[in-house]
Amino acid sequence: MAPGWRLFRRALNLRAPPVNHYVQLPYNVHGPFLKKLNFGMFVGLPELRNNMTLAAQSYSTWQTTVDPKEMKKFQLLAHKWWAEDGQYAALHAMNDIRVPFIRDTILNMKNDHQLGCPLSGMNILDVGCGGGLLTEPLGRLGASVTGIDPLEDNIRTAELHTSFDPVLASRIQYKSCALEDIVEEALETFDIVVASEVVEHVADVETFIKCCAKVLKPEGSLFVTTINKSQLSYVFGIVVAESVLGIVPAGTHDWEKFIAPEELERLLESNDFSVKTVKGMLYNPFSGAWTWIGSTSINYGLHAVKTNMQEQLDPKEAILDMDKEELQTESSIRSAS
Ligand SMILES: C[S@@+](CC[C@H](N)C(=O)[O-])C[C@H]1O[C@@H](n2cnc3c(N)ncnc32)[C@H](O)[C@@H]1O
Repeated sequence: MAPGWRLFRRALNLRAPPVNHYVQLPYNVHGPFLKKLNFGMFVGLPELRNNMTLAAQSYSTWQTTVDPKEMKKFQLLAHKWWAEDGQYAALHAMNDIRVPFIRDTILNMKNDHQLGCPLSGMNILDVGCGGGLLTEPLGRLGASVTGIDPLEDNIRTAELHTSFDPVLASRIQYKSCALEDIVEEALETFDIVVASEVVEHVADVETFIKCCAKVLKPEGSLFVTTINKSQLSYVFGIVVAESVLGIVPAGTHDWEKFIAPEELERLLESNDFSVKTVKGMLYNPFSGAWTWIGSTSINYGLHAVKTNMQEQLDPKEAILDMDKEELQTESSIRSAS
């Protein structure tokens, strides 16, 4: 936090809530909130103080999304990301469907694109990037990608691998941190946020979703792939995948942390997102290939767009609209009389 801001808060006697005290921020109360004060928000001092307390609170004091138990599991495999036939083989194979899903969805929303670099000009955040398995192909499509992961060893592996390709290295940056740690500095920064196979490992999905909304630009896209919380996902996602076929290491997944698409949609819709696509994914352990399917009962992919709350909530716009309407009514009354 900037020293001047700290002094300003002290002068107003605003104290940050205790660490890990989760406060739900209203949409407009963050960096832009201060700007908004200058144009069109009519607030009294008590209200101002309340809002300032919220605005001043660091996002890193939100309830953490990082589950230490999950970190321990990933730590053991932090150097194995790029072994194509190793423990992360299924994630390597998933690129065959998740990369086109992201690319084509974005291309369908854009009017123009550069040949060979369809995602150029796009600023992407790959949350929970692991060793960079998805970060790299997104960079190859021309995007500028930031990969973050709470595990430092994952980031080291990712950085090392990307460093072998200088063109790619110029488009990708990695940072070892949790999503909530960058919210403050990255408010409305990204065109696309990708959280692939991450949601089922976080400590608090709702905080995670809120943070995704904060770092996305209005009308930005969120892509999630994850695992449903169903009987089938228990049988195939845990018993078969971990214990019978060993597709993923035993203990990788905790069924309790899986989330049904309906629940994820509900969370997204109540946190400024509009869900556009939800589709099922199926892994064939014998061919080692993923395909899109209609059923979302085990794995699924989702695309949601952040709604442009600015347009909906901007009080200045609303007041201007009201003024315009009043003037129009007045002038039509005058011309009628
Ligand atoms: C199954 S791996 C997926 C890696 C990568 N997204 C991919 O698909 O290749 C899950 C990753 O999420 C990371 N992770 C776990 N909890 C996280 C959190 N709260 N925030 C961000 N990343 C997290 C783990 O460290 C791990 O690298």
